[in-house]
Amino acid sequence: MSCLVAPSLLAADFLNLKQAIALINRSDADWLHLDIMDGVFVPNISFGFPVLDAIKDILEKPMDVHLMIVEPEKFIDRLKSSGAYMVNVHYEACTHLHRVIYEIKNAGMRAAVTLNPHTPVACLEEIICDVDMVLLMSVNPGFGGQKFIPNSFDKIVRLKELIDRKASNALIQVDGGVDLTNAQKLVFSGADVLVAGSAVFRSEHPEEVIRKLKGM
Ligand code: DX5
Ligand code: ZN
Repeated sequence: MSCLVAPSLLAADFLNLKQAIALINRSDADWLHLDIMDGVFVPNISFGFPVLDAIKDILEKPMDVHLMIVEPEKFIDRLKSSGAYMVNVHYEACTHLHRVIYEIKNAGMRAAVTLNPHTPVACLEEIICDVDMVLLMSVNPGFGGQKFIPNSFDKIVRLKELIDRKASNALIQVDGGVDLTNAQKLVFSGADVLVAGSAVFRSEHPEEVIRKLKGM
């Protein structure tokens, strides 16, 4: 079995972003995961469009943007011009999720819906055929380096059942506390895309970790 790997830039050395992007470019990483936080939807603020714009011209992999913000619909055109490939919006932040998903798609990007750890998979019943991916948070969003929540394994299985039952093409992505100790079980449970921040960028051998994660 093998999966896609999307290292999260949040755990990189921000004084050496150019080196971090070069590492992603030469590695087996499939996408670069970019965590945008607003201090409202989550109790933290990370980085925003100026950072995406700066890396856009040197990054050779697709940008997987995870919006941990309220009112994500305000920024769809801006994300397109910053080079986003995939846009992840939180279920909990979108009153009109169906509209937001189609605004992202109509702007020429892939659309994903993200669930917090407490949000049940069943809430996706009516939207699962409209999204390109579901991102299951395996920690509470807002910070890197947190402990993986074990209930996520069963949640992936439940999501996979829903996807199969509805004949949806949605990928399953997992984000938070993913490392070499849980990656294989995540892929066996049904994960298609693994996000890893600390496990990659805090490692002595980031490219090797990416290669191992991909081989799960
Ligand atoms: C957390 C972010 C994650 C984070 C993952 O809110 O969505 O993408 O960067 O970091 P690790 O892999 O360190 O848990
Ligand atoms: Zn993320």
